Amino acid sequence: STVTVKVPATTANLGPGFDCIGAALKLYNEFKFTRHESGLIIQVSGTEAEKVQTDESNLLYQAFLKLYEFIEQTPPSVKIEIKLGVPLARGLGSSATAIVGGLVAGNVLAGSPLSELQVMELAIAMEGHPDNVVPALLGGCRLAATSRTGWEICDITWHRDIFPVVAIPDFELSTSEARRVLPTEVSRGDAIFNTAHFGLLLRGLATNREEWLRAALQDKLHQPYRQALIPGYDAVETAAVAAGAYGMVISGAGPTLLALTDELHTQAVVTAMTNAWKQAGITSVVRSLPLD
Ligand code: HSE
Repeated sequence: STVTVKVPATTANLGPGFDCIGAALKLYNEFKFTRHESGLIIQVSGTEAEKVQTDESNLLYQAFLKLYEFIEQTPPSVKIEIKLGVPLARGLGSSATAIVGGLVAGNVLAGSPLSELQVMELAIAMEGHPDNVVPALLGGCRLAATSRTGWEICDITWHRDIFPVVAIPDFELSTSEARRVLPTEVSRGDAIFNTAHFGLLLRGLATNREEWLRAALQDKLHQPYRQALIPGYDAVETAAVAAGAYGMVISGAGPTLLALTDELHTQAVVTAMTNAWKQAGITSVVRSLPLD
């Protein structure tokens, strides 16, 4: 038997929502699992295929094993075909696609013993933070908050006239490196700043009120520390805003940069971000990517 799972890229944080909000984008990885009897085979095609491990250390396969460990069953021997559309280590949730893909495929091949909620909780535990795996599993824009017993997930209204533009540079930044630069404690002033701006962001996303969105895309918990890891950050932000974007943030842990704009300005923002990075000596792929 065969199961194919298609999992979207995700952009986490959206500026002030560090580690709690993320949105799925129309860019996908596809994973096909086929039971067969002669040991693990992993075949990879698509974007940056040569960078993916094809042995047991493969994250997709590790997630698949985790599912069987959780349900206390022996995993079947499988052939896995991976079609990559999401670039690796760029802040677009490529590891979340692997974690969600492996867990979902494992669950289906096992006859769906786990609920979607259980799969989601396993995915969050594997990734360590919820903001990529939750929208990767459920689609749309999602907020995750711990409850007394687990997680509360809510869907965040995203006004249809707000257009994401992602600027993906040709260099990688590992999430662990981008987390290492963060302080373990923050000031009360910075905590209040983020609480206010995150609230404003949620209302801005729902209403498309331009002045709210323009003010909301600011953060004091992670971006100030991470900007130094992304050459050209200031120039790309200035160019995006001058071309009509509401603002620009780091997508996930970076180095991809995410601008939000309206339909009218999308092309100008794409061009401005591409050129600004080119002037800073960095080749990038910049494109408008709608929500999944
Ligand atoms: N919220 C996480 C971070 C996302 O910013 O480190 C990592 O993909």
